[in-house]
Amino acid sequence: MLSTRPIAVKGWLNITNINDGVLKLVGWLISPVDRPLTSFEIKISGQKINSFDLEKNLPSPKLQEAFPHIPEAKNARFRITIPLNTLPTPDLKDTLVEIVPKLGAENGQSMLAIVNPSLPLPSQEDMSTIGGAFLPVGLEFLSYLIQHADLKPTDHVLDVGCGVGRLAYVLAYYLNSTARYEGFDIIDNLIQWTQANITPQFPNFQFQKVNIHNKWYNPAGDVEAKDFIFPYPDESFDVIFLTSVFTHVRGYEISHYFDEIKRVLKPGGRCLFTCFLVNEESQELIKAGKSTQNLVYDLGDCITNNPDKPENATGFLEPVVASLIGDRGFSLLSKHYGSWCGRKDFTTYQDMLVILKPNFFQKAIRKINYLWNNFQNK
Ligand SMILES: C[S@@+](CC[C@H](N)C(=O)[O-])C[C@H]1O[C@@H](n2cnc3c(N)ncnc32)[C@H](O)[C@@H]1O
Repeated sequence: MLSTRPIAVKGWLNITNINDGVLKLVGWLISPVDRPLTSFEIKISGQKINSFDLEKNLPSPKLQEAFPHIPEAKNARFRITIPLNTLPTPDLKDTLVEIVPKLGAENGQSMLAIVNPSLPLPSQEDMSTIGGAFLPVGLEFLSYLIQHADLKPTDHVLDVGCGVGRLAYVLAYYLNSTARYEGFDIIDNLIQWTQANITPQFPNFQFQKVNIHNKWYNPAGDVEAKDFIFPYPDESFDVIFLTSVFTHVRGYEISHYFDEIKRVLKPGGRCLFTCFLVNEESQELIKAGKSTQNLVYDLGDCITNNPDKPENATGFLEPVVASLIGDRGFSLLSKHYGSWCGRKDFTTYQDMLVILKPNFFQKAIRKINYLWNNFQNK
């Protein structure tokens, strides 16, 4: 069902300029030693671009300084030149650029950028409330949603704890007008900003404020997360995501949210979420003082860095998360450990999981695999 998992790369994409009839994309990419960059697959506004000029392995002295232990960092810059008259939208307004590194026969993690977005950015204060890095993190997670959760431009999506629309902003340039985006959050002014700035230009993007209590984000809230029924019909979404939300809630709340996610996800639908997984490796790193989150206070249902306001940062034992997923019949599609605890080999800052609510055929295949494995082990 899902295309093969992309290879993790380090990289960055920038749009340098649009003049003299060409669009120039510059960036850098460091791929694993045995998978050198051969080319890129380029999509502009969803359309594949075949005519472009690629210069790769250009000198990158600043990168070499930043990654002295990686020899490939010495020549990691690339430059792509595309004639404007070959593009679907030559004026290049509100245009999403996606480039997928081709590493021989395999794909690397894609890099995205938006050219001349007409949506305004939220205030610095609102962006800081949700952790900052508004566009870089939004684009990074759009790439994960496309490549790990198989997000399509026509999908119906739910953004739980959408904040000030970090994901909605970039999705506005990816989803088409037949798609549906729903987001809800518990902070009033953030939702007001999204309703005033995103919905008027993209009416298929809807946001709701819910007055859920959270000691860190909404202490005056009068609804308990564990009792909150998501305001959407059963089986109405293809993809659901929660970025940096399960890192701020209690265990009994997560358990109820997984029930609701299961209810509103279509069979065959995927859910991508981030969290802090407490396991042997992260516990060792926390003990050694390497972690950015001191998750040492075990409250029974979660492990926090702040026993007075646990929702500041919450983590969960990895087997507990595995049971929450497995007990509801979800399949784990992929797990990506994060750098939060000081880990050297990581995908993004938080741990990220992608799960599937199997449809009839996926359940049948799972059953056959299970029986086959049992038979072989006899
Ligand atoms: C770090 S911010 C991330 C916001 C957004 N997901 C993003 O990536 O930009 C955490 C968000 O979770 C929201 N939140 C906390 N508890 C929640 C709950 N029980 N239900 C929904 N959202 C919640 C907060 O209001 C806040 O906007």
